[in-house]
Amino acid sequence: MDSIIVTGGAELNGRIPIAGAKNACLALMPATLLSDEPLTLTNAPRLSDIKTMTQLLQSLGAEVTSMQDGRVLTLSSHNLTSHRADYDIVRKMRASNLVLGPLLARAGHAVVSLPGGCAIGARPMDLHIAGLEALGAEVELKDGYLHAVARGGLKGAVIEQRFASVGATENIVMAATLAKGTTVLKNAAREPEIVDLVRCLRAMGARIAGEGTSRIEIEGVDRLGGATHRVVADRIELGTYMIAPAIAGGSVELIGGTRDLLPAFCEKLEEAGVTITQTNEGLHVARANGRVHAVDVKTEVYPGFPTDLQAQMMALMCTSDGVSVLEETIFENRFMHAPELMRMGAKIDVHGGHATVTGVQRLKGAPVMATDLRASVSLILAGLGAEGETQVNRVYHLDRGYERVEEKLSACGARIERVRGE
Ligand code: EPZ
Repeated sequence: MDSIIVTGGAELNGRIPIAGAKNACLALMPATLLSDEPLTLTNAPRLSDIKTMTQLLQSLGAEVTSMQDGRVLTLSSHNLTSHRADYDIVRKMRASNLVLGPLLARAGHAVVSLPGGCAIGARPMDLHIAGLEALGAEVELKDGYLHAVARGGLKGAVIEQRFASVGATENIVMAATLAKGTTVLKNAAREPEIVDLVRCLRAMGARIAGEGTSRIEIEGVDRLGGATHRVVADRIELGTYMIAPAIAGGSVELIGGTRDLLPAFCEKLEEAGVTITQTNEGLHVARANGRVHAVDVKTEVYPGFPTDLQAQMMALMCTSDGVSVLEETIFENRFMHAPELMRMGAKIDVHGGHATVTGVQRLKGAPVMATDLRASVSLILAGLGAEGETQVNRVYHLDRGYERVEEKLSACGARIERVRGE
């Protein structure tokens, strides 16, 4: 397994291009199942999760071709040969469950493995099931698989989610595009990736209004056509690289970044003493001199502070000038980066959903281990400012969600290299 070695102390100066959003692309790709005409996605990120989704869609009979070195994907599910998403694929990537809604809407049935737990939590699917049952599907759990059937097709309904789940919103909206009648989804997720999915579905002929608000209305149509859609910029990659100069010093321009993708996050970074300026190419980020200020953070659904940036913010708070409390409200076990940061000298107390971080002058490099996608990148960020060498192991987690992280950071002056494992 590959490792990444970071030697701390170098300031960062330069430009980092922000790729298309992993979490948008993982919802856009299954949308091909809703139509028998080609869907072309541009600005697609080159990540292992995209390869996994490609394999899954191909196992269902879809054709997926990638061009321009993976930046352009053309998907076509003219004739589906299977409606079953196997455990060995779904367990690797939970987003595989996003084929459930489209398969049900297009083919009238789907068999999708429950993903099983992952490092950050149990990841149940009760909200997905409740939404699809409201649309008239019968969903049964048998030997670890969800068996969903929509005899006579899906019917529009009024659905209110107890929690604004991103994935459940995506499954319900995609399924409702081909349901008979109108669907109103209340307490819908508002994330930019939902807005991007709806824009693509609308280009395919879907009739949807309200994306980005808590109330999305979908008027079912008989069929959807093809489309070409540009994947929105990845706000989590953006936020991750905004923290890099805040930790290492210097100033970086993040090409393609816009403030509206991360409203609460930008406010918190500015409170901590980081300057953020929108330029006509992206976001320019610089740390004012000296240490960042301690700020408290509570993760919330969009437009609140994103849970996917909590680990990265914790890495920044490790060398703040005070005490910061980070509250994780979205996942039940998302502080696994804390013990690894403590190996680097961080002072962190974790109690339930709260982590209290007391800033120290500087961390010390150490061998650390990645446990999940965002935890792994938080360790690299910590290494940028640490004294000496930090070796981050198990970086396959990293490659799921970050394109060429060592190239993007070394282009700005970071001392970082990938060591190929056996
Ligand atoms: C999406 O996961 C993202 N993944 C996650 O990013 C992100 O952390 C999450 O949204 C929250 O923003 C993709 O888009 C592929 P949820 P998703 O359904 O859809 C509970 C990353 O690092 N829940 O909004 O699975 C669930 O257990 C990944 O890129 C239920 O209880 O998130 C969790 O506690 C990690 N029942 C909370 O809701 C359900 O049926 C948020 O889940 C569904 C979810």
